[in-house]
Amino acid sequence: MAVFSNARNYRMAADVPLLIPEVNADHAAALVQQRKLRQWPGCIVTNANCSATPLVMALKPLQQTFGLRKVLVTTLQAISGAGYPGLPSYDILDNVIPYIGGEEEKLESETRKMLGSWEEGPGFTAAPIAVSAQCNRVATREGHLECASIELGRDVEPEEIIAAWQNFTPEPQQLCLPSAPASALLYRPEVDRPQTLHDRDAGRGMTVMLGRLRRCPILGYKFVLLGHNTIRGAAGGSLLNAELCVHKGLL
Ligand SMILES: NC(=O)c1ccc[n+]([C@@H]2O[C@H](COP(=O)([O-])OP(=O)(O)OC[C@H]3O[C@@H](n4cnc5c(N)ncnc54)[C@H](OP(=O)(O)O)[C@@H]3O)[C@@H](O)[C@H]2O)c1
Repeated sequence: MAVFSNARNYRMAADVPLLIPEVNADHAAALVQQRKLRQWPGCIVTNANCSATPLVMALKPLQQTFGLRKVLVTTLQAISGAGYPGLPSYDILDNVIPYIGGEEEKLESETRKMLGSWEEGPGFTAAPIAVSAQCNRVATREGHLECASIELGRDVEPEEIIAAWQNFTPEPQQLCLPSAPASALLYRPEVDRPQTLHDRDAGRGMTVMLGRLRRCPILGYKFVLLGHNTIRGAAGGSLLNAELCVHKGLL
C-alpha cells in the first residue's frame, strides 16, 4: 500500500520524500531507500504544510536561477487550514490571530528540506537558506496569502525575477500529469493582485499566484504569493505526488 499523506507526521523523516513535483521531483527516489530500510512493501510520501507549498513553489525558480540566501515570510492563512469545524466563530470573525501552533517551525524546516538535495546514501541535506516565518490566521475561507522578502544570491533586475517565474516549466507541466495545472506559477502585474477571493482558484486551485514584486530596502526584493490551501496545499498536491510516482515507476 502506498500512503500519500497530508499530515505533518513523517514529513521530516530522513527517508520520506516531502514532495512537490514542481520543486523536488528527484526526492521521490528516496522511496527505494525507504523500502529497503523499513522493509515495507508499500511506502509513504508526504506533501508539505499548506503555507510552505506555495512559498517553496515561488522560491524554487529563483533559487535555481539566482541562488537564494534569506527568506522572511508573513502569512495570512484561511480558516479552512484549521480543518472542520475550525475555530469558534467568536474567535475568528472580525479578528486576526497572530499564532498558529507549530506552523512557523514547519514553514521554516520544510522549506529548507524541499529546497535541499537528496542523494542515495547520505539522504536529504537541507538547503543553506535562512527562513523566518510569522503565521497569522485571518477570516478568509480558502487560500493562504503570504508576503515574502528575499535575499538572492546575486544582484538581478525585477524583469529577470518575473521571467524566471514565467519561464518555470518543471517536470509535471512537461509531462502533462493529469492534476498539473498548465502553469505552476502565474504573475499578476496589477498593483493589487493576487487577492485571496479572486485568485485562489487559478489552475483549478493548483496554480500559485504571484504579484507585487518590488525592491525591499532590507533584503533586496519583496512580493506577494497565494496558494489554495485545501487543493494545492492538500488533496490536489497529494494526487499530483501520486501521479508523479506512478510516472516514475515507483509504485
Ligand atoms: N486543511 C488544510 O488546509 C490542510 C492542508 C494541508 C494539510 N492538512 C493536514 O491534513 C490533515 C487533515 O486536515 P483537515 O483539514 O482535512 O482536517 P479535518 O477537517 O479536521 O478532517 C480530519 C478528518 O480526519 C478524521 N479523523 C480524525 N481522527 C481520526 C482517527 N483517529 N481515525 C480516523 N479518522 C480520523 C476526521 O473524521 P471525523 O469527521 O469523523 O471526526 C475527519 O474526517 C491534518 O493533518 C492537517 O494538518 C490540512
